[in-house]
Amino acid sequence: MTLILGFEDYLPQAEKLALCLSFPIKQIELHQFPDGETKVTLPEKLPRNIIICRSLNQPNEKLIELIIAASAARDQGVEHITLVAPYLCYMRQDKAFKAGEAISQKIIGKLLSEYFDSVITIDPHLHRINNLVEAIPNKAAITLHASHAIANFLQQKFKQPIIIGPDEESEQWVKAIADPHQWQYTIATKQRYSDRDVDVSFSNGDSPNSTEPNLTEQDIIIVDDIASTGKTLEQAVIQIKQQNPKSISIIVTHAFFVDSAIERLNSLGVNNIWSSDSIPHPSNAFSIIDTVATQLKTDEAS
Ligand code: R5P
Repeated sequence: MTLILGFEDYLPQAEKLALCLSFPIKQIELHQFPDGETKVTLPEKLPRNIIICRSLNQPNEKLIELIIAASAARDQGVEHITLVAPYLCYMRQDKAFKAGEAISQKIIGKLLSEYFDSVITIDPHLHRINNLVEAIPNKAAITLHASHAIANFLQQKFKQPIIIGPDEESEQWVKAIADPHQWQYTIATKQRYSDRDVDVSFSNGDSPNSTEPNLTEQDIIIVDDIASTGKTLEQAVIQIKQQNPKSISIIVTHAFFVDSAIERLNSLGVNNIWSSDSIPHPSNAFSIIDTVATQLKTDEAS
């Protein structure tokens, strides 16, 4: 028997996973001491195999609690621990851009590989590496994609939307969403100046081999993996609006939307803002938990 362990901040998703897999679920209890430390209490008598399900947004505290929990589980004799972290933190800093900068992807990846036998995540932000195993070494590190769930969701809402990727990196998921449905798509170019300052531009059909679709009177969907400050999306919306589309919707996998990003996007006239439940957020509109469950069922069967 495999037991799922969830934390309060991601319990509905952990419960959904348990339901999909018909596995029992129990909660890991946390108590904050006045000095800022956390007491982590696991259920007694754990089985040999457990799955810990917790997304790693706001990672600094969560990582400590997770590692304490995994160590305590080992002390109880647990043999195999899977971490399901639909949002995986610290994947973006994959190189030292300036002397002295820590390569957090490598450090956190190694840490996770020491405590977990396998790690499953959704669309981690891997930039200069292709495979999650390069970040989480020597372990079963599995990347799943939200594209199928996103396409299914959009199909219920639109007949023939045009999909927009706000930067070159987004082409992978934009293509995966658009191609199976033969939806048109286009990819913008992004210039990032700082955390909160970006420029997004479209070629507007200038390039000789451009197949840029005309956005006028069309339902436009901007797709991205992460919305952090929302500046990337905001700049894309400003550009797209110049072409007078019928509607503009935004759909992302990992929803942070910090700094009142939702309000800013709404004030630009965005019609819909949707996200997956990889990070709990009011914009959550579809689930990636079924995708995780399917992977775990396949693992069980093999
Ligand atoms: C980066 O390349 C990602 O794909 C996102 O576009 C980025 O993280 C979004 O950040 P922000 O919302 O702060 O512009």
